[in-house]
Amino acid sequence: MNLATDTQGCGLTTEGFRRDLLRGLSVQRKHLPSKYLYDEEGARLFEQICTLEEYYPTRTEVGILQRNAPEIASLLGPRCNLVELGSGGSIKTQLLLDHLEHAASYVPVDVAQAQLLESSAGLALVYSNIEVLPVCADFTKHFFLPVLPPDSHRTTVFFPGSTIGNFEPHEAELLLRHIAGLCGRGTRFLIGVDLKKDPDVLHRAYNDSDGVTAEFNRNILARANRELGADFSITLFQHHAFYNQQEGRIEMHLLSECPQTVRVGDAKFSFAQREAIRTEYSFKYTLSEFRCLAQRAGFDVARCWTDSKQWFSVQYLVPREDIEGSLVKASNSVDENPRSLFG
Ligand SMILES: C[S@@+](CC[C@H](N)C(=O)[O-])C[C@H]1O[C@@H](n2cnc3c(N)ncnc32)[C@H](O)[C@@H]1O
Repeated sequence: MNLATDTQGCGLTTEGFRRDLLRGLSVQRKHLPSKYLYDEEGARLFEQICTLEEYYPTRTEVGILQRNAPEIASLLGPRCNLVELGSGGSIKTQLLLDHLEHAASYVPVDVAQAQLLESSAGLALVYSNIEVLPVCADFTKHFFLPVLPPDSHRTTVFFPGSTIGNFEPHEAELLLRHIAGLCGRGTRFLIGVDLKKDPDVLHRAYNDSDGVTAEFNRNILARANRELGADFSITLFQHHAFYNQQEGRIEMHLLSECPQTVRVGDAKFSFAQREAIRTEYSFKYTLSEFRCLAQRAGFDVARCWTDSKQWFSVQYLVPREDIEGSLVKASNSVDENPRSLFG
């Protein structure tokens, strides 16, 4: 099994991290891109978060996928290529692979290289008939998809875990367009989207009683110390996550416990007491808000599955041109061919 990488070589480079950190700490509202939360330690901590009672998204999304896997598999069709963005441990993927009809390939894309390699090797053993083609890349940048099996059919991009919520709505729209451009005409999406709900439930999910999310959050500073030689005193930064109802998002910050100065190489950054570094947004949507976002990106929500509490959704997006094309074909009584209907 070969590991493909993006044009920079392996997802995130140390130089890229240094540049983003220096830039993010130099502005008035300090922030760091959430993709840097996921080094090897961050990926391990996130897997632990997924098992917590308070963290409802994982078990809710898994439940939706389990209940609806046969229908999802029939929509994806035979000999499909499954590209997964932010594949992490690829746990949810197996629910799909178990039901797909002779899937041709599975292409997990992630910046967390060690986890990507380990989970891909495990899947390649279990699903020996499927080509497992991991790509270590930052999916917000340009990257090359590996050559897909010649006899394969449609490509669907699986994007679970509400990772799309880490982007501001206008960025999420651009991301859908960018990925559709990379994967080619007719590409569909199967996306896990977290829904608006009681703020107390949201608050608990990002402030677990075991402090795992706090450790996950602070690990971004520990990573800067490890990889960039920064001198953050980790214990002097406090995890702070809350639901910003007006913006419809969880905001995760690290608050400086006292006035302090941090060094990153030759650069120095001063922090006032309770000054924040924002490390993650997690936008929550209503079904209609997400439908509008998808439409702005050129997609229609062809199918949407939720749980009984309507806490989470898995949405199947189809390019609008395919739906419009299929309506014209149907009304003209042209031969119906599933491949041309669905790209
Ligand atoms: C919220 S976790 C979801 C993991 C898994 N898909 C799930 O559903 O549990 C986000 C995943 O996306 C990856 N990730 C975040 N930003 C990324 C980026 N810009 N490019 C590639 N992978 C990214 C992280 O390494 C992590 O594995």
